[in-house]
Amino acid sequence: MYTLKQANTYIEKNRKRVIADYRNDYHAMAPIGWINDPNGFIYYKGEYHLFYQYYPYKAVWGPMHWGHSKSKDLVKWETVPVALAPDHSYDKDGCFSGTAIEKDGKLYLMYTGHIEGETEEDIRQVQCIAVSSDGIHFEKVEQNPVITEADLPENAKPQDFRDPKVVKNGDFYYSLIASKKEDGGGQILLYKSKDFLDWEFVSVMLNGEKEEGPMWECPDIFELDGKDVLLLSVDGLPKKENNFLNTHSVLAIVGEMDWEKGIFHKETVEELDYGLDFYAPQTIEDDKNRRIMISWMQMWGRNIPTETEQHGWAGSMTLPRELFIKNNHVYQRPVAEIKNYYTNKQSYKTIKLYDETKAFEELSAEVSAIELVLDVKAGKRFDIEVRSNQIEKTLVSYDCETSFLELNRINSGIELVGNEEEHVYKRSVYCEPENNKIELEIFLDRASMEVFANQGKYTLTSTIYPTQKADNIKITAEGQVEVDRLDTWDIEV
Ligand code: FRU
Repeated sequence: MYTLKQANTYIEKNRKRVIADYRNDYHAMAPIGWINDPNGFIYYKGEYHLFYQYYPYKAVWGPMHWGHSKSKDLVKWETVPVALAPDHSYDKDGCFSGTAIEKDGKLYLMYTGHIEGETEEDIRQVQCIAVSSDGIHFEKVEQNPVITEADLPENAKPQDFRDPKVVKNGDFYYSLIASKKEDGGGQILLYKSKDFLDWEFVSVMLNGEKEEGPMWECPDIFELDGKDVLLLSVDGLPKKENNFLNTHSVLAIVGEMDWEKGIFHKETVEELDYGLDFYAPQTIEDDKNRRIMISWMQMWGRNIPTETEQHGWAGSMTLPRELFIKNNHVYQRPVAEIKNYYTNKQSYKTIKLYDETKAFEELSAEVSAIELVLDVKAGKRFDIEVRSNQIEKTLVSYDCETSFLELNRINSGIELVGNEEEHVYKRSVYCEPENNKIELEIFLDRASMEVFANQGKYTLTSTIYPTQKADNIKITAEGQVEVDRLDTWDIEV
């Protein structure tokens, strides 16, 4: 069996061997090895704690541990010792995703213990608890597992029962757990407890239709601006027009949660991010009453160059984003703290482009933030090239006639291919101009790009792997496009 000691010793010994070329500067990452979902994200005793699905020994998914980083400002992250290893009979094949809560000054984690057997039918997923008084060292409680197969309602598969999200409401702790139904489709099961150890089944909180995907994962729930929001990560959500083109998609479901009856009434459902690499987000409320979300910036089933080229690591988190709701739509804004790391500002104003390309030669943008306001009332199209050089570029384009904003990484660098039936290398979103303007904030790190459009109304998040220095910006206009404002900053952490 794996142990914590073995994991921490391995990391200490080997972390210097990692090849740093594509390692992001201002995004949370593990020192070595593989990461996926953020876990146990919480603001605890004055610091942000972020755990994550972790296999330290290789840059591929393996028996899951919980890696751990902490931060004072959501930008600079410090790696601390691994929090959980799969070292008990009830989690022997992995400590899967889960969440955290503070209770009586202690930090409690609820996670899924994954147990394998001879066949797929023998798999069992159970819910377990670990507790810490210092936020660093965790003990698994002796009552584990605290929710098992015996607590499942009819029609729920014991093989796919995972990713508890814990919240407090009134006198009770609640746990929302993703479940696969025997007859297909996903559902969210609700459990409650007074003491966080003894749990009882309450209800099927949300019942998925077959066309809503075979497996729901990583639920999150919160109240924001007078609405209740449920985030769901869905494995295998069928493609619908321009939506859900990746193998795994994230849904933002806005509605109302009836805690008495344990039922979520959904009003609107939208895809949360329109990029190529965004999955399994988690949110917290911090001491400033902000709702902040962080997500895995990667997609299942794709080649990851830092793995194939043997750099010794794979995976990064997104920039933490503050959430808002307007008209039942979830807006995402980069957390304000990132601005504390802006340097070397360069600004341009009122550049009129008419069927032409302008290269901003004096500008270089690699690890940087770019803000643009473009007036499109007389335009047909614009293409913004970032991280470009003679042969590579990543494109953010806008079609003024159809109002689609698109991110295209076909020429970004190392080719990224996935399990999708058709090669997915671009994504787009319908994004109407506001007062004839399209406003963009683009965050670039060594191997990533996050686009926030129209004050965070839509986001597009993707990894990119330029093979050589790529830091130019060019804008091409078809018809007349006016760049009202272009500001760039380097981001130095
Ligand atoms: C989502 C997920 C979770 C699971 C974890 C395993 O990406 O599949 O459902 O708990 O990853 O690493």
